[in-house]
Amino acid sequence: MPLSQKDSLVAGSSKLRSPCQWVSVRLTGMSEDDRPRRFKTEHLFPLPKRQPSARGKPLVLPVATASKARLIERYLSLFVRITRHGTYIDGFAGPQYPDVDEYAAKLVAESEPARPLLHPFKEPARLRHFYLFEKDARKCELLRQLERKDPVRINVFEGDFNQRVDEILRPETLKLTEATFCLLDQHTFECQWATVERLANYKQASEYKIELFYFLANWWLDRAFSGLRDEERGRAWWGSDAWQDVIRMSRPQRAEELKRRFRQELGYQYSEAFPIHGVEGKDIRVMYYMIHASDHPEALKLMRRAYDKLRRHDGSTQLELDPEAEDA
Ligand SMILES: C[S@@+](CC[C@H](N)C(=O)[O-])C[C@H]1O[C@@H](n2cnc3c(N)ncnc32)[C@H](O)[C@@H]1O
Repeated sequence: MPLSQKDSLVAGSSKLRSPCQWVSVRLTGMSEDDRPRRFKTEHLFPLPKRQPSARGKPLVLPVATASKARLIERYLSLFVRITRHGTYIDGFAGPQYPDVDEYAAKLVAESEPARPLLHPFKEPARLRHFYLFEKDARKCELLRQLERKDPVRINVFEGDFNQRVDEILRPETLKLTEATFCLLDQHTFECQWATVERLANYKQASEYKIELFYFLANWWLDRAFSGLRDEERGRAWWGSDAWQDVIRMSRPQRAEELKRRFRQELGYQYSEAFPIHGVEGKDIRVMYYMIHASDHPEALKLMRRAYDKLRRHDGSTQLELDPEAEDA
């Protein structure tokens, strides 16, 4: 596959590359040697053959795990344009890989820096408060570096989010009128359902409850269930003994069931599951879903917009992959 000169520059080398290498390097925007561990272990996609673009539509790719932080950052920049203000809560805020500098809390905090003293006429940041929780002391130190740069807006809480969440769910800390987004980016079973309920109930009386963006493991969830020795952990995660039923559900059913719970049990107006992909062996898999629950009629549209933007590759060729197809 011949590369144009521009493509070679993007890829950081003039050598010809295989399609897989080319997309991997182009999407990460780094040379192969520079790629941090996440990108080395999670190659992007073993690509099917290029297909000629039927209608000149842009290239469409599944959203990969490496893009999750950017999805959240993009969504929030759209969200605050509508709300004009906001609070960001991150219950599991430490970087998944401490050596990868791109993680949600950091991207969001840096996307809209507080008004610098030297630029008094610049608009103040619309995201006014950040509450970042993290259990791991080493990762907490990374979050504290963000806090030291922006101590007025950023507050770091070390410890278990399930235990400490009530410290911010108080009107003197989190105003009931403040538009609030909460990321629940657990690894598998760490976020207890009682915590999700507390967040959802906090602004029950206001027009818009706290928006939630909840991580549901998909590809490795069956393995995680079989390794789960402590039944109480499963019960706390799902909020009842019905967690045993989840084991028997198909993968897409689990995402549907959570969407239903967000609407019917927690009272959200809208919920949607966004599949996030990774490579397992030679296949692209839905690694997990991010489930978005909101009361704002614009919110899901904005999330879809941010998600679709990540899927669109502005190349001149088109690649259509049906993300659902691999995961039936
Ligand atoms: C999947 S990572 C978060 C990834 C991050 N959002 C990113 O963009 O890279 C989950 C984080 O939650 C932390 N964690 C696990 N259990 C926790 C708990 N009960 N309370 C707070 N943090 C916890 C882990 O140490 C880990 O840093």
